[in-house]
Amino acid sequence: MQIEDIAEAAREAGGIMLTARRPRIMEKSGHANFCTETDEKIQQFLFKRLSELAPEAAFLGEEDGQDVFEAKMSKGYCFVIDPIDGTSNFIHSYHPSVVSIALLSDGEPYMGVVYNPYDDMMFTARRGQGAYLNGERIMSSDVPLSDSLAVFGTAPYYPELRERTFDLAKKLLPLCVDLRRSGTAAWDLCCVAMGMCSLYFELKLQIWDYAAGALIAREAGCIVTDLEGKPLSYRGPSSGLCRARGVREIPGCFV
Ligand code: IPD
Repeated sequence: MQIEDIAEAAREAGGIMLTARRPRIMEKSGHANFCTETDEKIQQFLFKRLSELAPEAAFLGEEDGQDVFEAKMSKGYCFVIDPIDGTSNFIHSYHPSVVSIALLSDGEPYMGVVYNPYDDMMFTARRGQGAYLNGERIMSSDVPLSDSLAVFGTAPYYPELRERTFDLAKKLLPLCVDLRRSGTAAWDLCCVAMGMCSLYFELKLQIWDYAAGALIAREAGCIVTDLEGKPLSYRGPSSGLCRARGVREIPGCFV
């Protein structure tokens, strides 16, 4: 399977995002957890297009409402899709929102594509073969955290994690130049991958939020783990900590 074909599907999906007008909004479980008819439309488009590319592949998509990885997904190919990562951004026209597509092979990340259609930025990575932005190789920053921006996610759907999230953010702030919050985890991981910031953390993510972005970040030289420094799970939800090359140790506030 060619990563260029997956990227082309992501580009077309991004076109659906750009042309959507006042989509219907549906509420899911958890605080301010929404889905729009555009999320559903893009997911259906991607299922169709990607199954033409790899008819044998399984699918795990955010709008299936599943948050568990099934045994069948750990064998052969499995696409893990977030049709719109940053749905709240999308609803409020706060950019960016991205299309995120990971391909797992035997349960391990094999290819990752993240596309930001607003700025026409296509991130791609194949395991062991580097990370690219619009075809140009990217590497994460080797500048220390003290001279870098850091970004974090608020785990918005899990109120029980709010206090710890903001406590960590408060402790991280004096260790870096400043903090940012974008509203899309896949984009945050790409921002660390391309060197715009040096660290990203979030206390709870679903696999479709990070599967593609984490591979892109890793291939750009980042260390991507859960908050305890353990390897990310590709079987279900996880916390996430992504460090650029210059952040050699896990900062003290996380330990
Ligand atoms: C969310 C975004 C957000 C992150 C949440 C994710 P969604 O994905 O990535 O930045 O904080 O944890 O669930 O719901 O917009 O696809």
